[in-house]
Amino acid sequence: MKYLPPEVEEVLSKFRLDREKLQEISEKVEQQMKLGLAQTKGSSIAMLPSYVPALPNGTERGKYVAIDLSGKNLRIMLLHLDGSDPPKHNTVNYIVANHVMKGTGDQLFTFIVNCLQRFLQEFGLVDANLPIGFVFSYPCELLSIRSARLLWWTKGFDIKDCLQKDVVALLEEALEMNMSTKVSIKAVMNDTVGQLAAAAHKYGPECTIGVVIGYGCNSSYLEKTSRITKFDAKARGYTHDDMIVVTEWEEFGKYGELDDILTQFDREVDEASVHRGKQLIDKLCGALYIGEVVRKVLSQLCLDRVLFEGQSCEKLDEVESFPTKYISEILGEEEGVFKACRRICDELEVEMHGTTDYIIIREVCDVISRRGASIVAAAISALLRHLELSSVKIGVGGALIQFHPTYHQMLKEKLEELTPVTMKVRGWLCFRQLFELVPADEGSCQGAALIAAVAERLRL
Ligand code: GLC
Repeated sequence: MKYLPPEVEEVLSKFRLDREKLQEISEKVEQQMKLGLAQTKGSSIAMLPSYVPALPNGTERGKYVAIDLSGKNLRIMLLHLDGSDPPKHNTVNYIVANHVMKGTGDQLFTFIVNCLQRFLQEFGLVDANLPIGFVFSYPCELLSIRSARLLWWTKGFDIKDCLQKDVVALLEEALEMNMSTKVSIKAVMNDTVGQLAAAAHKYGPECTIGVVIGYGCNSSYLEKTSRITKFDAKARGYTHDDMIVVTEWEEFGKYGELDDILTQFDREVDEASVHRGKQLIDKLCGALYIGEVVRKVLSQLCLDRVLFEGQSCEKLDEVESFPTKYISEILGEEEGVFKACRRICDELEVEMHGTTDYIIIREVCDVISRRGASIVAAAISALLRHLELSSVKIGVGGALIQFHPTYHQMLKEKLEELTPVTMKVRGWLCFRQLFELVPADEGSCQGAALIAAVAERLRL
């Protein structure tokens, strides 16, 4: 065990969650999931119907476009399903400007349409009238596979005139106003649905759970329609046996369920966020926030004079001066090599003194990442128990898990720890549920195009 000064250990001990605590979190998550399936209000986990009845089965063919809006990035993809494996695709990334993220709905949707127009021109597809899958990864109530009412913004967006509106209608209006060509929106979905579809396409029908660990953290899974008891399938004209449910588990904690694990640093990050008191799982596990938590801890250790031989570091008091990518860079280096750590200290305008500073900084990054991965594992294990499947693949993706060097491994280890040796599967006692975490990078965008193809195949 590395030597850490007692002051550091004291701060970090608040971030270490033992197995009992994680088990407790997992059980509460499971209860809230069950409640969310039964009633529309009163659960911290909304369990939203997606109206998507099936995953791709490999027979889909043709060209499809995906528009994926998530945080600062707008991605547009052309997916060519011609039977080749992996399928051919072209993607272009556009950056959403800060003033657009906090401007008007008109500005945002006109921006999206202009990017789409440019994209279609670049690929000579202006007249192709291609089907589109639209990923809109913000909490939405779906009224059909083509209609999503925005409940609230997350990930730094704050555009008031879009709230409670149907984002597909807003996109279609902007298309009508600004685009000379025709396209058809076939499906709108949360990014986790895209993630799940892409993983199922790649890894087969055993893959029925999709988890995104990016700026935020959320999941979706294939459910029996009859188990979504709050959903009146008949009244909604929904005739399929299955439906993908978007858990929106990032809201877990809004009724105080996580209060006992929140540190003063988490509370400060929450206070400073656009949506105070909301999205706690994002704040504990997502890339938009964990760099900020690390920054606040390092700043405290600096004040306590245990870092940098007592030198002050003003940069650490500046918001977002320690982006989450620093965590990946520091943990990505072989232990004992501290080139990245030294470079980051240079960027923070402070001198790193030998190995003690390096060990402390690395440990802070590790402990805060590990806490996030442990909470995600607790939530996944709740879903595994709820699903009662003897064997399942979980498609994971999102920028944090994709670029963080140890996240996947930490998640796997914690999940193994939390999966009981025996469990009941449909009334039978079984040995450990077999699960596999399978990566599908860039999944949400590709999956959206695939869901557009499924919608066509099923004539939805
Ligand atoms: C946030 C959003 C959620 C999304 C997740 C991952 O938690 O609220 O809808 O799926 O981020 O991007």
